[in-house]
Amino acid sequence: MTRGLRIQTGIRYRAGVPKLRPKTGMRKGLTAYGDEEFSLFLRKAFIKAMGYSDDALERPIVGVTNTFSGFNACHRTVPELIEAVKRGVMLAGGLPVEFPTITLHESFAYPTSMYLRNLMAMDAEEMIRAQPLDAVVLIGGCDKTVPALLMGAASANVPAILMVTGPMITGDHKGERLGACTDCRRYWGRFRAGDVDEQEINAVNAQLCPSAGTCMVMGTASTMALCSEALGMMLPGGACIPAVMAERMRNAEATGARAVALAKERLTPDRIMTPAAFENALRMLLAIGGSTNGIVHLAAVAGRLGIAVDLAAFDRMGRNTPVLVDLKPTGQHYMEDLYKAGGAATILRELKPLLNLDALTVSGRTLAEDIAAAPAPFPQKVVRPVKSPIFKEGGIAFLRGNLAPEGAIIKQSAMDPKLMRHEGRAVVFESLEDLANRVDDPKLDVAAGDVLVLKNAGPKGAPGMPEAGYIPIPKKLAQKGVKDMVRISDARMSGTAFGSIVLHVTPESAAGGPLALVRSGDRIRLDVPARKLELLVGKAELEARRKKWKKPAPRAEDRRGYRKLFLESVTQADRGCDFDFLAEAPKVRVPRKV
Ligand code: FES
Repeated sequence: MTRGLRIQTGIRYRAGVPKLRPKTGMRKGLTAYGDEEFSLFLRKAFIKAMGYSDDALERPIVGVTNTFSGFNACHRTVPELIEAVKRGVMLAGGLPVEFPTITLHESFAYPTSMYLRNLMAMDAEEMIRAQPLDAVVLIGGCDKTVPALLMGAASANVPAILMVTGPMITGDHKGERLGACTDCRRYWGRFRAGDVDEQEINAVNAQLCPSAGTCMVMGTASTMALCSEALGMMLPGGACIPAVMAERMRNAEATGARAVALAKERLTPDRIMTPAAFENALRMLLAIGGSTNGIVHLAAVAGRLGIAVDLAAFDRMGRNTPVLVDLKPTGQHYMEDLYKAGGAATILRELKPLLNLDALTVSGRTLAEDIAAAPAPFPQKVVRPVKSPIFKEGGIAFLRGNLAPEGAIIKQSAMDPKLMRHEGRAVVFESLEDLANRVDDPKLDVAAGDVLVLKNAGPKGAPGMPEAGYIPIPKKLAQKGVKDMVRISDARMSGTAFGSIVLHVTPESAAGGPLALVRSGDRIRLDVPARKLELLVGKAELEARRKKWKKPAPRAEDRRGYRKLFLESVTQADRGCDFDFLAEAPKVRVPRKV
């Protein structure tokens, strides 16, 4: 037996022993110098400069991602949350170590935050793997940060627990509650229509984001928070607590404490994020009338674990999963109301017969046990019972047809029911620039029954699949009171938006999908109940157009750096827009049986 030599910090060296077992704490992921004991010796020398005691360095090490930025108001509270997480880690006997990762805010990420999500996921994955972490607390919140952190954690497969910054509270304007960003769009639409003057729009602007935290409607941040809780990656009750409440700090403390247990139990993300858990998250997405972005992000996270989301099966799941949550943009309430109504547990309790209740969560219990441990139900008006839902099917429908051979989606719970079956004349915009230049042109040939089509706004086209699918109603129609039209694109849409909007058309236009062949004047038929999206142009004519089609010319900035990597590697929306070299080969498809 080799005898250990104890040197000052309390970490034991074993000279001449090539492999140290188990590799935890400071012994994990040693920098490669060809001599592991020297690597450990050097590491200790540097970590001692941080002032840690010997005792501290022998504890389980819990990394805490610092996603704070002066540009990210959704993450304004991250510094105080980190303090609370650290307190929890230390109370449970661990050593918390904070480290920075990329952060992303929707309004401060050019050209779009989606373009940078994979960069953040790569950063999170590599830093989790590179540093000696026995567990990691992922602090996310704003739309792309939660999926990016989950994608990175799934690939690194170190015990991980997610917490979100939490939603904003609502603002007020002339006695009316306001919230980002549904009311941003509503008031901007009124301003465009001349209904609201400049003074009032400025007053509203100051009330839309009245506190730290994430958008407080059922946008992508709220959607991903609730789906993550259903997925089992967050402590029960964590999704809905408003950012500015003391309870949010207690949630952070509990998350830190639980991270130490995860380190000891070696409870890795692949044991939590199983096919059964993704089915639970997809049910949640449907039942909350969640953001259409949720399906892209869940597909990307699942893809990291070799789990493919089958959109046709997801659509079948939607046929028996009603929308239960009455939140804006389609309903009445805001996230703080859902929190007061019991949060995710109230929804999960209603969905119980449809869930995989044996799925393990980061709490160390099954989902059934988590639901049973939640506070007892009470009368409330935010989450409807399954017997009287807001919408009898799930919020998102999957469409197919000759215009979208690999599919497209529509948030059917957020559209004008009169447009569920609609045929109209296409009015085509070739790009985002073309849209910006012409949509408000008084000479634009457009009528209320037309179908607005936007090309080249997909994953490669824009690039980054911006949230441009919410094509504005042309000003001259808006001024006549037109509130909704069928709109079709390969772009995404903010979860805070609403309307009869077909999104994620796949393959995208820039990749030569049939969307690239549509011309103004063509007829398009949308049939949501039949799940059909058809371009009513004959095969021969489409073939002739295809022969003439030219791939968009590369832009100067496409030739180098992250942009080059992105354009060469990004997958289509149905695969989550992840990079092809980051996803695992699919081994199972979800939902499995519907
Ligand atoms: Fe961050 Fe809406 S902008 S959640």
